[in-house]
Amino acid sequence: MIPIIIDCDPGHDDMMAIMLAAASDEIDLLGVTTVAGNQTGDKTFENALRVLTLINEEIPVARGADKPLLRELVTAPEFHGQSGLDGAELPEPGIKSLDIDAVDFIINMLEESLEKIVLVPTAPLTNIAMVLLKKPEIKQKIERIVLMGGGMHDSNVTPAAEFNIYVDPEAAKIVFDSGVPVTMVGLDVTNKALMSFEEIDGIIADKGVISSKVGPLLKFFANANKKIFGLNGAPIHDALAVAAVIDPTVVGTKFLNVVVDTSSELSRGATLVDIYGATERKPNVDVALKVDTPKFVGFMLDSIKKLDRKFA
Ligand code: BDR
Ligand code: CA
Repeated sequence: MIPIIIDCDPGHDDMMAIMLAAASDEIDLLGVTTVAGNQTGDKTFENALRVLTLINEEIPVARGADKPLLRELVTAPEFHGQSGLDGAELPEPGIKSLDIDAVDFIINMLEESLEKIVLVPTAPLTNIAMVLLKKPEIKQKIERIVLMGGGMHDSNVTPAAEFNIYVDPEAAKIVFDSGVPVTMVGLDVTNKALMSFEEIDGIIADKGVISSKVGPLLKFFANANKKIFGLNGAPIHDALAVAAVIDPTVVGTKFLNVVVDTSSELSRGATLVDIYGATERKPNVDVALKVDTPKFVGFMLDSIKKLDRKFA
């Protein structure tokens, strides 16, 4: 089993990332840490607890940063609603959270683990950057960082930037420049990791304990993406990063140089990918350029069915 920690800001697609990891036989989900992003720190933390309560998994949850390293927090209620998980009522948090900050939790887990751990951030990279700043030598214990964020041609907050990188570009720069192996699962592929309205209706029709919540939540997310971007379904961005850990063939990657723009206002948080080798800069990131959408959607549907069976 591959030991991972998910650092997230649930968020509909973060919820799917957690569920995919929890349901997977390939993954050992050691912990879930939260950060402000799609919604405030209070809300993303509570949402992570609610999601784990729904699927009845006693996975350690630790709360992290309430704001980016240097900038004011920007949230995304137009996609995730006021709660951060609009579309269905999730259970009150029924599992206990840890009394330790996300950054210290991640450091402790890395220090104590006999094997290296894969970090899967699906949110602004504030917590992960703080881990690297607080304990630089801990890098040795990180197997790799497979993150959802950025994009080569695609963007969603400004013409230049994707949300997770835009919100905390300084943190992203620290992570991309850290020397830790990084896989960037960005919008070029995650916008194609689309669950169609028909597939979502199929989930709703299943009427299981999990599908009866997940279906309406995904419908809310799909409607928002249809309205704002004209997408024909719900892009399950964050879960594609988890899927790429479970089965690296779900995405096709190329090792390229990526620089995060922190200096300009117009292109704040842009991930500048040197695809043609136009600079002397050395490759530092595995950039996901292709996605096997049917395989990915198959993983998602299987994981929901598997979680439903737990309660049947
Ligand atoms: C990313 O931004 C958030 O709104 C989603 O949860 C995902 O992590 C997509 O740009
Ligand atoms: Ca997210």
